[in-house]
Amino acid sequence: MMVEIVEVGPRDGLQNEKTLVTVDDKLRLITELADCGLKRIEAAACVSPKAVPQMADSAEVIARLPQRDGVSYSALVPNMRGLQTALTPPLRLNEIAVFTGASESFVRANINCTIAESMAMFEPVIAKAKARNLRVRGYVSTAVFCPYDGAIPPAAAANVAAKLYAIGCDEISIADTVGKGEPENVRALLRAVMNEIPRQSIAVHFHDTYGAAIQNVACALEENVCVIDAAVAGLGGCPFAPGAPGNVATESVVSFLRQQGIDTGIDEDKLMRAGEFIRGVINNA
Ligand code: HMG
Ligand code: MG
Repeated sequence: MMVEIVEVGPRDGLQNEKTLVTVDDKLRLITELADCGLKRIEAAACVSPKAVPQMADSAEVIARLPQRDGVSYSALVPNMRGLQTALTPPLRLNEIAVFTGASESFVRANINCTIAESMAMFEPVIAKAKARNLRVRGYVSTAVFCPYDGAIPPAAAANVAAKLYAIGCDEISIADTVGKGEPENVRALLRAVMNEIPRQSIAVHFHDTYGAAIQNVACALEENVCVIDAAVAGLGGCPFAPGAPGNVATESVVSFLRQQGIDTGIDEDKLMRAGEFIRGVINNA
């Protein structure tokens, strides 16, 4: 079984940290992650600096991304303004990611619009990104549980995934933003999503609030969903989802996969050192 890990540490991992990490330290982290053998790295977010101050220097991070054969870089893009930043030469990104959610309250808190408005906002962004040969990922946040609206029916999340797919997203990342997912509800959710879009287009994004993330990764693999988001050192969280702490740690996912006999080609010692580096930056600031 081929499993792809999408390293979201430089974006999801850092966006919620109070300590402002310098561009040089972000680039050192990204370089170390690429040198571990990670092939997909979400490096930045072209969002309002008022909404997420930690991502305010994303244009510079993108411009200076280390070029590595076979490494694909992505950035979050909510709107046309964000796409302009992402497309500023030198074009170093291979992918952008638009992001909405399965609950109206979260989407309002996160990107200040309704789910339907988010789709209308993304459509021209996706078309333009594709015209520039960028791959497009779409996120469905709060696919399991919303900190404002509570439990989310699988069909509601699947419906949003279907809409993102219909407007041109190549891959849809199904996100348990607050980490309330457990294997049984994650399985029901993934099956509902698979009724709407091809399994090969699905990724999973688990936050590890209650320690169930690795079990949820195992559940995704059982359902043959093979694209797993993770953040080095288990960093992460969304500033607009109270109670959303770290993503599942990349170190844990890689080690779990090795134990399942799945080779990711990732150097675990180097990965641990990358994690120690960024933890040191955050803890010693
Ligand atoms: P808004 O206030 O409704 O829109 O924000 P606006 O158009 O009025 O813009 C407000 C200000 O932001 C203006 O500046 C714009 O120019 C500026 P001002 O005139 O006040 O000085 N602006 C921008 N600046 C830079 N880049 C841009 C941009 N757009 C507008 N692209 C908006 C709407 C979407 C912009 C805002 O709400 C926003 O940026 N939200 C992003 C929130 C965010 O990044 N959240 C975290 C990432 S999502 C996540 O973590 C979940 C995920 O991990 C999956 C999961 O776990 O669930 C992906
Ligand atoms: Mg997240």
